This record gives sequence, structure tokens and C-alpha cells, in this order.
Amino acid sequence: MITHKQLPEYYDWLSRYVQLTNWLAYRDRFASFTMHKRLGIEPAEHAGVRRTAGVEYVNDRVLGVADLPPAPRVLDAGCGFGGTIFHWQSRIGGRYEGITLSSVQLAVAQREARRRGIADVCRFRLQSYDEPLGSGFDAVVAIESLIHSPDLHRTLANLSAALRPSGVLLLLDDMAMCDLDRHRPAEAHLLRRHWGCARYWTYDDYRNALYRTGLSLIHEEDLSALMRPRHEEILDCLERTYSLLHERIPLRPARTVVSAYLGGIALERLHASGNVHYRLLVAGKGSRS
Ligand SMILES: C[S@@+](CC[C@H](N)C(=O)[O-])C[C@H]1O[C@@H](n2cnc3c(N)ncnc32)[C@H](O)[C@@H]1O
Repeated sequence: MITHKQLPEYYDWLSRYVQLTNWLAYRDRFASFTMHKRLGIEPAEHAGVRRTAGVEYVNDRVLGVADLPPAPRVLDAGCGFGGTIFHWQSRIGGRYEGITLSSVQLAVAQREARRRGIADVCRFRLQSYDEPLGSGFDAVVAIESLIHSPDLHRTLANLSAALRPSGVLLLLDDMAMCDLDRHRPAEAHLLRRHWGCARYWTYDDYRNALYRTGLSLIHEEDLSALMRPRHEEILDCLERTYSLLHERIPLRPARTVVSAYLGGIALERLHASGNVHYRLLVAGKGSRS
């Protein structure tokens, strides 16, 4: 069972392993420095699209709806290797802060910022998004990180406090469309056990938490159509294999990676059945000017 306390170590091992899978898939250990899911933007479907387009896509999509002022000040809450920050900084400039629980991710992000000569405007640190974050940000972005929040209302209230009055909160995540414990107990169990999700937040949880925080929804999109869940038989076969490995492998780092895969399979099943959607929410305090 992965617990909330183990998340830093969990992400450290995953971050090491993902460098290997990126290299095998793209011959590039960091593949745009992203650590979110790959979407179905295939080079074959769009002539000229880069091989890494499927993992880069959401950075552009979220930036496209952010409506940021020139040279914005942005906080990435759960920044991974810093991919969103590097992408946005190269497009629109600005000043960025990225926080992560993983020291492996932190080291990669800081090294890349130095390599690009932008370490003065792209700063990274080890910190939870539930701790005080500073204030005056034009945007706070969280891509596939709030799934780990133990208390969504508390987390969103904290992120909102970091925004200036005209700032925007940009959330992109897998959101359950029903109570998974009630309607999909097997998958809910796998996500709790292998991804350390105390509760899998629903779309309604997000909307209610935003409302309670005093934020209004400005824009929303459903990107689920870009997901490419694999066939049920493939998922069944993979789940059997990974469960066996998880049972038998004595090494903690390898078990951690297998855990991540088992949680991912549960999520893929939930996407295939329509019980989870990949949604982008943009919220603000209501005084954009
Ligand atoms: C799936 S990765 C996504 C990384 C990045 N947003 C991206 O799109 O590449 C999840 C990220 O959330 C971070 N995270 C999870 N819980 C967190 C917390 N309480 N505070 C800060 N970061 C957190 C992890 O450290 C990791 O960087």
C-alpha cells in the first residue's frame, strides 16, 4: 500500500524509471520534461508533428486558454521535471516557480534551467502544495498532481491564496464522474493501494471545492476524446502479469514502478468505461482586468 507519506520516494523511483522508458520510446531521457499521460496526437495522423507531440500537447492547450498577461508570474503546483514551465517560458517569457515532492525531479528541473540559462526566472523547490506558497501569481497551474491531494478544498484554498485578484487557476486532471468506491470498487481499491489516492476526486468534488473557495469557473474542456485506452483483454493480461510481479518482487524500487503501472491500468479501465474524464478547468476570483 502506497501512503501519502511515501509519495516523495514513490515519485523519486518513478522519475528514475520514466527516464528509461522515455529513452526507449523517444531516444530522449526526458521527452520534453513532461510526466503526464501521453495523448493520441500521433505523428502519422498529423504530418510533421513531433514524436513527442502526445506528451507536449497539453502544455500548449492549457497555455492557450490561460489568457495570461505579458511576462506573467506563474506557479506550477506539482511541476514534475519542469516541462510545463520550460515550454511556457520559451513561448511567452515570464517568471516561474515550480514545486514538487521529488528530489529527483527537482535536480533534473534545476539542471535543465541552468543549461537553458534561465535559472534566474525558473526556480524550483521541494515543497507541498498544501504549505504556504507566497502570493501575487498571475496563474497557478496543476497538471495531474491534485489526484494526490488528501483534502481538495484545503489544497484549492491554498492555491487560490497564491493568486493575485485577477489570477487564474488552471487544473488538468482525471476526474471521476461518479463515486468510484460505490460504482467501481475494484478500481478504487487499486488506485488507493497503488497510487496512494486517499479518495479519487470527482468532477463534482472539484466544482464544489472551487465554489467553496470563492473561485468561479471561467472555462472548461473535456480532453477525454484524446485518450487512447487499450483493449480490455490487453489490460486484463497486463494486470495479471503486474499483480504477479508485485507479489513476487522483493525489491522496493521495482515494486514501486509496478504499483504505478497497476494504478495506471485501473485508470485506463475507468477511462474506457467513461467513469473518469480528463478535464481542464480554468477558475478565477472573478475580477479579471
Ligand atoms: C504525474 S506528475 C505530473 C508532473 C507535471 N505536472 C507534468 O505534467 O509533467 C505529478 C506531480 O505532482 C507532484 N505532487 C504530488 N503531490 C504533491 C504535493 N502535495 N505537493 C507538491 N507536488 C505534489 C509530484 O511530485 C509530481 O511532480
